[in-house]
Amino acid sequence: MSHPETHHAALTPAPAPGREAPAAHPIAPLIAQRWSPRSFTGAPLPPGAIERLLEAARWAASSNNLQPWHFIVARRDAEPEAFATLLGVLSPNNRDWARQAGALLLSVARTHNPTNGNPLRHGWHDTGAATALLALQAAALGLQAHAMAGFDAAAARSAFAVPEGFDPVAAIAIGEVGPPEALPEALAARETAPRQRRPIEAFAFFGGWRG
Ligand SMILES: Cc1cc2nc3c(=O)[nH]c(=O)nc-3n(C[C@H](O)[C@H](O)[C@H](O)COP(=O)(O)O)c2cc1C
Repeated sequence: MSHPETHHAALTPAPAPGREAPAAHPIAPLIAQRWSPRSFTGAPLPPGAIERLLEAARWAASSNNLQPWHFIVARRDAEPEAFATLLGVLSPNNRDWARQAGALLLSVARTHNPTNGNPLRHGWHDTGAATALLALQAAALGLQAHAMAGFDAAAARSAFAVPEGFDPVAAIAIGEVGPPEALPEALAARETAPRQRRPIEAFAFFGGWRG
């Protein structure tokens, strides 16, 4: 029996041949399938995708459940002017590849606790957590998301009228992954380079700092 609310595209793992994280210990497949491509096809997001991405972000944990995250959404088909504006505040290196994304988002964190006006120490933390869930949901939909610190935060604030008390945090390119060959050579090489991470012992200190 189908229900109108279940009429969504089927969840398909992101096609990322050779891009799965070579995890040293077993992890949830979706985490291994998420990665940050630079080759996007230029296709708009599939119908219903943006709602599902934002819904995933919505269910992130946050300090005091304050949910300090905000996202300015610029889909290439539905918000073309905002897409061009967001593209325009990216660093030139990011702009070169991000122009092919199906959507660009700007994550924005609340900086103060609305209940008492105190600085919100975990605003960026929780905005990052929401973005991570959004990226995992993208992978679950057969898409990928690529976060960018390389953008002009002051220009983004001004272009989108982000008020005081809110910080632009990251730009995020989302879309259908294209072939590495569609990129200039230097970027194509990064697209296929082995995925690397510091080992657990470099960041986890059992029992105390540097254990
Ligand atoms: C907050 C943040 C900012 C980033 N900024 C950029 C950026 O400006 N340009 C870029 O090409 N990649 C950027 N990245 C992508 C990282 O380089 C990438 O996540 C990292 O190399 C690990 O690769 P993976 O996401 O494919 O596992 C950023 C990622 C994050 C989370």
